[in-house]
Amino acid sequence: MKRSLIAIATLAGFSTLVAAAEPRISFPADYKSFKNYLSLDRVGNDDQVIRLFANDVASAGPSKDGSLPNGSILVGEVYKAKLNDKGEVIKSDLGRRIRGKLAAIAVMEKRQGWGEAFSEDLRNGDWDFAIFSPDGKRLNKDLNSCRSCHAPLKDTDHLFSIDHLK
Ligand code: HEC
Repeated sequence: MKRSLIAIATLAGFSTLVAAAEPRISFPADYKSFKNYLSLDRVGNDDQVIRLFANDVASAGPSKDGSLPNGSILVGEVYKAKLNDKGEVIKSDLGRRIRGKLAAIAVMEKRQGWGEAFSEDLRNGDWDFAIFSPDGKRLNKDLNSCRSCHAPLKDTDHLFSIDHLK
């Protein structure tokens, strides 16, 4: 397993493990029982479709401060869009892409204190990120790319789709 970012900060005799050596998010094997709260043609990837799922905690929606509670898990099933013989994305009569092969399963999970390990530009509140193959194996991807794209969304708890959970 890839070891990443082990740092111990010692401050006035107080030691804090600022980043875990092992990934904290495990594959949510039961995610198909979560609520499928949105499915869409991906905004930033023109040949993909995504289906978004929220566990019970997240499905209850944001609290008054606009953020989802600790224990929230959001899952994105990322599909390749179907292509024609020329390799172009096919559209349905509705003008939407058509789901092809399941390519990956992207996960965000929020737990108390999980964000403390990260610098400001990578911190997403207490959310962390993981990505898995369709059969649940952890993919070796740079999760800082996830973190840095979602981090600026401070007004929406670092989520693109939070309005759909209200
Ligand atoms: C370049 C920007 C970008 C990067 C990098 C990125 N995302 Fe996202 N993410 C989005 C957008 C935009 C959406 C809205 C749905 C869509 O179009 O895919 C989204 C939606 C999500 C959602 C559903 C919750 C939400 O925010 O609406 C999850 C879960 C998620 N991403 C996980 C990940 C993971 C895991 C990674 C890294 C492997 C990642 N994302 C990398 C832009 C990004």
